[in-house]
Parts: sequence; structure tokens; C-alpha cells
Amino acid sequence: PAPAPLRGRRALVTAGPTHEPIDPVRYLANRSSGRQGYAIAAALARLGAQVTLISGPTALAAPAGVERVSVETGRQMRDAVFAALPAEIAVMTAAVADWRIADPATDKIKKRPGGTPPELRLLPNPDILAELSAPGPDRPRLVIGFAAETSKVGENARDKLARKGCDWLVANDVSGDVMGGADNAIELLTPQGSEHWSRRSKEAIATMLAGRIATALGPRTPG
Ligand code: C5P
Repeated sequence: PAPAPLRGRRALVTAGPTHEPIDPVRYLANRSSGRQGYAIAAALARLGAQVTLISGPTALAAPAGVERVSVETGRQMRDAVFAALPAEIAVMTAAVADWRIADPATDKIKKRPGGTPPELRLLPNPDILAELSAPGPDRPRLVIGFAAETSKVGENARDKLARKGCDWLVANDVSGDVMGGADNAIELLTPQGSEHWSRRSKEAIATMLAGRIATALGPRTPG
């Protein structure tokens, strides 16, 4: 049988975008296919972890052996994350919208010829990664954040690791064709330093990361 170093461990993974409604037919969102997060959820499950995948709207099928919880907004994602605790491992790949619409319209906003466009008032969404990383009895042992950057990738990632309070940070340069594509290249930042993982498939990145997580957590102590 395949080795299952994460058997008996619970993991939660967030993936995809969130949609913040403007009215019943329009929304605000970040660009995200969900592919990297789905691949990580699948890779953790292959190593034996019990995985809850908390997903915003994507076109992807739930990976085998993974429990998927589908959400739409950032606030729903936050509630689903905290409902999935306790978990030892948290991998936060979702591209959560930074803002939500303060007062979404319950009816479709009409576009009238010559009319003035509506003004959208925004409110900040909860920072799920920062909330989950805050010390507390339910804090997962290993919280991994993601950072999509288009410039100064390493520098911004170091800042983000410190600011969010997570344990590891996976930084990717999304200035090229990474978004929605099949491949990724990353910088893995841990308290021990940083490593560059050159361009490879999102599945290969996921397999490497899951292996690294298993090594970091070590053998499970009985009881
Ligand atoms: O601040 P920024 O969005 O660049 O941070 C990216 C990291 O934080 C990702 O791991 C993302 O999933 C997480 N995040 C979050 N909730 C937010 C914003 C980002 O969990 N509202």
C-alpha cells in the first residue's frame, strides 16, 4: 500500500475566489481558477490526511477522498473555515476578495440610458488567514499562507509572513501566465529560510508541498 504519513491528521484547505454580490446578477471577485488549492487538497488526501476543502465558486470537480464545502462570499468562507476546526494543517490558497459591497441591492440595478453609474461603497472583508493564525486553543499547528505578487515577490512575501502570523508562506509570481494555467513556480518561506521551486505543474508543486508538510509534522504520536 502507498505510504500514508498524514493518516489521522485533519487538514483544511481554502481555494478559489470569493464572489461579493453587488446585486443578484453582479459580483466583485479576484481572478482565481482554484487549481493550485484543489491539487494541494488532493495531495494531502493521498498522504492519508482527512481533508476539508473550503472552496469559492470554481469550475473544478471535488478531488477524490476530499470533503468539499462550497461557499460564495469571504464571510461565508471564514465561517466555514472556523467550522472545520480543529485541524492540524491549514493551507490557505483562496483568493479572497479584499472588500465586499457594503449594501448589495436585492433587485438588479437598472442601467438607464444616460443615467449615472452606481457608486459602490466597499467594506473590508475579514482576513481569514490572519484570524486563523492568531494564537488560540484551536490554532492549527501549521498554517500556510499564499501570496500572489506581481513584483518584488521575495520582499513582499517576507513582509506578508510576518504580518499575517502564519508559519510558512508560499509566494508565487503571477506577473506571467500562472493565473489559471497548469504550471506554477514558487518561493517557499519558512522560519528556516527560503527555497525556490522552479516551474512545474501545479500537481507537482502540490505533491512536494504535501510531502514537506508530512516531514514537518513528523510521525504521529499515539493517543
Ligand atoms: O493579503 P493577501 O490577500 O495578499 O494575502 C494572501 C493570503 O492571505 C492567502 O493565503 C489568502 O488565502 C489569505 N487571505 C485570507 N483572507 C483574506 C485575504 C487573504 O485568508 N481576506
